[in-house]
Order: sequence, then structure tokens, then C-alpha cells
Amino acid sequence: MAATDELVIADEPAGSLPELREKGYLTTKVGSIPVVVFWHEDRPWAIEDRCPHLGFPLHRGSVESGMVTCHWHHARFDLSSGCTLDPWADDARGFDVEADGDLIHVKARSSGDDVARLHRRLKEGLEENLTLIVAKSVHGLLDHGVPPAEIVRTAAEFGLKNRSQGWGSGLTTLTAMANVVHHLDDDDKALALVHGLVELASDTAGRPPRFPLHALDDATVSGERLAEWYRRFVETRSADSAERALATAVSGGATPEQVEGMMFAAVTDHVYIDTGHTLDFTNKAFELLGHVGAGAAPDVLSSVVAQTSQAERSEELSSWRHPVDLIEQMRLVELDLIEAVSAADGTVTPVALVALATQLLDADADQIGPALLATAGAGANLEQLARAVALAGSMRILRFHTQNDHADWNIVHHAFTFANGMHQACKRNPTDELARGVLHSAMKVHVDRFLNVPVARVRRVENASLADLEACWEAEGHVDEAGAIVSSYLEDGGDPAPLIAMLGHALLHEDSGFHWYQLFEASVRHHEAWPTGSDGARLPLVAFARFLAAHTPTRRERSKLVHIAARLRRGDALYEEN
Ligand code: FES
Repeated sequence: MAATDELVIADEPAGSLPELREKGYLTTKVGSIPVVVFWHEDRPWAIEDRCPHLGFPLHRGSVESGMVTCHWHHARFDLSSGCTLDPWADDARGFDVEADGDLIHVKARSSGDDVARLHRRLKEGLEENLTLIVAKSVHGLLDHGVPPAEIVRTAAEFGLKNRSQGWGSGLTTLTAMANVVHHLDDDDKALALVHGLVELASDTAGRPPRFPLHALDDATVSGERLAEWYRRFVETRSADSAERALATAVSGGATPEQVEGMMFAAVTDHVYIDTGHTLDFTNKAFELLGHVGAGAAPDVLSSVVAQTSQAERSEELSSWRHPVDLIEQMRLVELDLIEAVSAADGTVTPVALVALATQLLDADADQIGPALLATAGAGANLEQLARAVALAGSMRILRFHTQNDHADWNIVHHAFTFANGMHQACKRNPTDELARGVLHSAMKVHVDRFLNVPVARVRRVENASLADLEACWEAEGHVDEAGAIVSSYLEDGGDPAPLIAMLGHALLHEDSGFHWYQLFEASVRHHEAWPTGSDGARLPLVAFARFLAAHTPTRRERSKLVHIAARLRRGDALYEEN
């Protein structure tokens, strides 16, 4: 039980009544909690003497009209309950006061059902987009043994209801953090959840709620027909019709495999839609179901339909049509590729897959399809092809030269997260339509080839130590050094577990952006897809270390606030007089 939950009575009196009347306040402690007793309107009032916002002593505040006002950021607290009138500051704890003759005694009140209160505060923190309240609630819930999955479920329900556009970067970040939280050190687990929740709160702030559409009543439409309808409605950008078709499929018209198949078919009916976000979001929606349960499928899956229907299609972009018509290049091999992966027995070696990834990096447009076909002909199934293509996407980041425009990191990032989402989807439910998607990913890697000119080469360092990585986040310009340390550490047989925890720690202590979370999660997941010690397992982590070093340091404000929240929760004294 945390210090703030102790139910205790002060052994010593806080002071005498005459002293309280004369001075206006007395300070004391109940257990480890500092308490101030004010004399106001002819009676004593006791309240925690530590502003729940950032720890300022409330005895330095002003009392009037039944309230104490903290002078640091002017939050106001009701003297009778301790609750705040300014929700961003959080509630203080109120205490009972008893007089024994002239002596004043202070007694703690029961805090009631603390877990229920923390759940309520978590929701309020999400509604009001208050990082400190979210962070304190997460720390409190974890202290009480509430599993991270329950916190994710609460947040997901909130995010699904409160964004009219449906799925966005907040739910993606939340799911990404839920996917990797078990890789992190214990101290960073709460921080990962807070990052996910705060991104979600920020993504929903100020937006109207979402009202999902319902299934067709008493429909007896087959799964095949619903899938056909769904694709047709997405094709014609009829989002509401697509959503009702999906709702009917989810509510029983189709098997889960059919639902997943039809959604990914619609996402890959066009090429690299919405710079890969639609595929990534759809994949994350299915991953979220793994955390919150299949019962949430109607709300979770319908949240991506509007985005899918409205997405920009790369066929409409000149970069995919000119000077070489890349769409046409893909159509030439599409059917052959579907046939080849259907016949493949999955016996191709990891070395052959790494060779394919390397080949894709330098291939001309008309060589991309044949390269995939040749590897499928040698036995690569769809999961293996998707894995090789995702590795090629990761290697674009690994080879990204710092001479490029800094904003171009985002371009290579998008290609990899798209390819990783495709790989995760292929692992779960490989379909003919996803074979087209793998071809799209490979062509996107080709489109970005000039961002590897010149190629950044990963150096080798002797006796690489993870401790040396710390310096790479402290100043700009350590991109190649970070890549060299991670690569050499893994080449020398270093354990990836502490490396991943360290990369996660560095990520979570920065004011990270949406792409950073995506890339960390994708790199870790992709690393796990390869045999231990292989190039495939090594390269994604090298790529992420380079990306992170290219974007650090930041002001690190969020992690400082979360640290303060943890200290307030523990009852540490944050403010010292002089
Ligand atoms: S309002 Fe009291 S510390 Fe900020």
C-alpha cells in the first residue's frame, strides 16, 4: 500500500487552540503525510499540506471563503473535503480535526475504494487531457496490482468512443506500447502506459464523440457476400455502407478469418493508401483485440472504416506513375506471385530471405516483382516474403544518410512500418490479397531508394558497451555512433533483452513523437521474427537506434512530469523551504 493510502492517526497533537487562532494555521504529520490545520470562519480545517499538483506547501497559500488557494499555479481546494475546484491540480486529502480541551488532534479519513477512485481519475485525466492526473492514476492502479491490460482496456474504450473520425495515432500508440511493455524494465512499464494514454488523450481532445453504426437487423447475408459488399463500398468511398456491412459480418455473418480477410482485402485493393497508415491502423486494430478481447471487435474494427474509405490511393500520385508506371509493373506479376506463394512450402532459409531484402534495396522497378517471384519459387511462403520485405524497409532506415533532409526520416519510417504491419497481418492470416500488399511494400522500398544515396555504412567498434549508448541521446549528431554500438554489441553475441529495454528507456524519457513509438514497436516485433543472432534480428534494432539518435535530445518534459507524479504518489517531499 502506498504512503498516501495509510489510514493513521497522529500520535502527537498538532498544537493548541490558542496557537491556531493566533497564527492562523498549524502544521503536523499524520503518518508520513504533512498536514496543515487552518483556522477559518471560527473553526479548524485540516488538509494535506502538499499541493497535489506539484507539491507546494499549502500552508503558504491563502484561505478565504472556505477554500485554500495554492500560490504556485493558483489551484483552489475545498477545505471541507480537500477536493480541488481545478481538476488539473488533482484532489488533496482532507483530514478530520478533533479538539481535546485546548489541544488539536488530526485524524485521517478512510479513502474508501481507492481503485475505483483511481479508475475514475484516470477517465477524468483522459477526458481533460491532463498528463499529471493520468500519470498519478496509472502509478496508483499499478501499485494496487491492477494489471496493465485492464488500464489499456479502460483507455481503449475511451479512445474508441471519443474520436468521431475513429482510429487515430492515439490508439495506435496505446496498442504499440501494450505490445512491447513486457520488454521494458519495471520502472519504465508505467511510463510506457502513460505515454500511450497521454497520446490517446491528446488525439481525442476537443473532438466530438463517435457513434458506431449497427448491423443489419435479422440479415441472413453470407460472409462471402458481406465481404464483396464491404470491398465495393470502400472502393466507392461509401463509408457508412461499408461500416454497416462490416458490423453485420462481425455480428455473425462471417467468421473472424473472413472479417480480417475482407478488411485487409479492401486495404490492399489500392496501393500504399494514406502513406501506409491505413494498413498499419488496421493491423493495430486486430492487435488491440488481443489485449482487450474479441468482444470489443464491433467497436474496434468499425473505427478504421472511415479512414479506409477516405484514404489517398498511390495510383493517384505522380510519383508512382512517372517516369515509370510502378502500378503497371506490379500488375504484370501480381497473379503469378499469388500462385507462387500458394504453392510454396515455406522451406527457404533466413539467409536467403536476408539476401532478398538486400537485393530489393538496389533493384530497378522491373526487377522487384521477379525477385519476389524467384524467392517464392524457391519455397518462400507469404509470411517469409513479407518478413524479407519488412527487413528491406528497416534497412532503408539503417542506410539513411544524415546528408538527407531531416524530414525524410519520416519517409523511410513510413515504408518500414507499412511493411511491418503487412508482415504481422501475413503471420496471422495469409491471403491472396495480402500477397498484393507485400508487392506494394516492396515497391515502396524501391520508391525510396534515393534516400540511401549516399549509403550510410554501419561501422564496427571493438568491445561495444551498452553504457556508451547513453551519450548518443545526450547530444545531436551521434546517429552513426549509435548504430555502430548496437550493431557491434549484437554481432559480438550481446543479449538483445537489455538492449531493447535500454532503447525503450531512452525512447520513453524523451518527448517522443508518434513515429518514434511506431518505429520502436515495429523494430522490436520485427527483431523477434528472426532467429536469435541472425542479421535479420540485428538490423532492425540498429535502424531504430540510428533513428532515435537522429531525434534526441528533446526537453524531456513528459518523463519529468511522470517522475513527479510517481514522487507525489509515493509521498516524497518535492518542495523544501530554502
Ligand atoms: S497549483 Fe499548487 S503546486 Fe501548482
